[in-house]
Amino acid sequence: MGEPSLDALPVLGDALLGLRQPSDDDIPALVEACNDPLSARFTRLPVPYTAADAEHYVRSSAEGWRDQTGALFVITLDERLAGTCSLRIDAENPTEAEVGYLVAPWARNRGVARAAVELITEWGLHSWGLTRLVANIEDLNPASIAVVTPLGYRRVEPGYVQDLKGTQRAMHHWERLAETTEAN
Ligand SMILES: CC(C)(COP(=O)(O)OP(=O)(O)OC[C@H]1O[C@@H](n2cnc3c(N)ncnc32)[C@H](O)[C@@H]1OP(=O)(O)O)[C@@H](O)C(=O)NCCC(=O)NCCS
Repeated sequence: MGEPSLDALPVLGDALLGLRQPSDDDIPALVEACNDPLSARFTRLPVPYTAADAEHYVRSSAEGWRDQTGALFVITLDERLAGTCSLRIDAENPTEAEVGYLVAPWARNRGVARAAVELITEWGLHSWGLTRLVANIEDLNPASIAVVTPLGYRRVEPGYVQDLKGTQRAMHHWERLAETTEAN
C-alpha cells in the first residue's frame, strides 16, 4: 500500500463531480440522501436512516482513514452532497476492499454513480495501492450492475444468497483487479 497522509481523505475529482471526506455539516444532507426506498431496498443502511446514523458515517470516515480500514467519502455534484461512495478494507485481505455507493434520488440518472465509482476505483487501485475491489450487488439491481460493468468490473461465479434485512437475496460479487484495463 502507498503512504498517504492520514490527516484527511484526499479530495478526488473536481468542483462539478467530486469525492471528499464528510463533516458534521453534511449530516442533514446525508439523512436526506440515505432515506429513500431504493437505498432501503438495495443496501444495508438502517431504515429509517437518522441523524445518528449520519454522524456515525462522518465519524467512521475519519477513523477509517486514520487506521486505514476504509475510505468513506461523500459525492458532491456542483458542491451539493449527492450521495456516498466508499471502500471498506477486507480485514482478512488488507489489499482488497468492498466498494459501496448510493446516489440521492434528485441526482440519479445523470452519470453521478458511474463517475464516482470510476474515481474511487482508479484512486483505490492506482494511488491507495489496493489490488482487488469487490461490489456485492443483488441480481435484481440492474442500475447498480450498469454502473460497474463499463468500469471493468467482472461478475464472479458462482452467485450466492445473502440475508439482507431479513429477506433472502440472490447476489453476485463483481470484482475489479488492479491489472484490469477498461478495454478488457
Ligand atoms: C444504483 C445507483 C447508485 C445508480 O446511481 P445513478 O447516479 O443514477 O447511476 P448513473 O446515472 O451513473 O447510471 C448508471 C447506469 O445505470 C443505468 N440505469 C439506471 N436505472 C436503470 C434500471 N432501472 N435498469 C437498468 N439500468 C439502469 C443507466 O442507464 C446508466 O447506464 P448507461 O450509462 O449505460 O446508460 C442509484 O440508483 C442508487 O442509489 N440506488 C440505491 C442504492 C444502491 O442500489 N446502491 C448500490 C448497491 S450495490
